[in-house]
Amino acid sequence: GKCTAIILAAGQGKRMGGQVRKQFMELQGKPLLYYSLHCFQESGLIDEILLVTGKDQIEYCIKNVVERYGFSKVVKIVAGGEQRYDSVYEGLKACGDSEYVFIHDGARPFVTEEILQRGYEAARKYGTGIAGVLSKDTVKIVDGKKNVIETPLRDRVWIVQTPQIFEYNLVRCAYDRLQLFDKTGITDDAMVVEEMGNHTVHMVPGDYTNIKITTPDDLDVAAQFMQKISG
Ligand code: CTP
Ligand code: MG
Repeated sequence: GKCTAIILAAGQGKRMGGQVRKQFMELQGKPLLYYSLHCFQESGLIDEILLVTGKDQIEYCIKNVVERYGFSKVVKIVAGGEQRYDSVYEGLKACGDSEYVFIHDGARPFVTEEILQRGYEAARKYGTGIAGVLSKDTVKIVDGKKNVIETPLRDRVWIVQTPQIFEYNLVRCAYDRLQLFDKTGITDDAMVVEEMGNHTVHMVPGDYTNIKITTPDDLDVAAQFMQKISG
């Protein structure tokens, strides 16, 4: 079956700030978005890439990312929406006849082939495979007054990443259904499937280096990772 990657790059980067949106900021001479596209372009698992970006950045993406670096698997660039879940939905609607979708944050440049493989293997077995890592820190659940109400066992607490891989029909139906409900508080795709899809979501190991570039501090960490990788 066909495997489509939906790469999200329609955010405003409010926590990063600055003139240039974070997905287009340069890291080692290339736009941040280049790195995740490169991983999906090179992967034998992926047939097509669908890029989601801001309406005003589509032209820029065609010229300065897709054509410039020869990302031949990018078959469509669609305009995203206000919130991340809106952008994902636009991507899903543009997917066509895919059997599996790999939903990935364009702001995670350190995704690897190994992560894609682990997620895909789970998706074939269970219908879903989302990347994550065990929390290194103890996590506390607090109430509205910041009083601790629970401390989950640390070996059960995972920090979730992307890619999140799903059977297309499963995630599409869940997102269709979501449109009838209040979407506040939805922060990842697995959550939509958990709440709307009536289907178990399976976790696979991502990587501690598979960070999301969110705040200016992350750029320093990313530069260090890049140097390590390029020797
Ligand atoms: N994203 C998107 N459409 C949105 C919001 C986010 O495609 N309406 C994408 C971002 O471009 C990013 C990924 O989803 O690749 C993860 O989102 P996040 O890190 O929150 O990025 P931003 O929303 O851009 O940042 P911020 O929340 O700080 O504004
Ligand atoms: Mg955001």
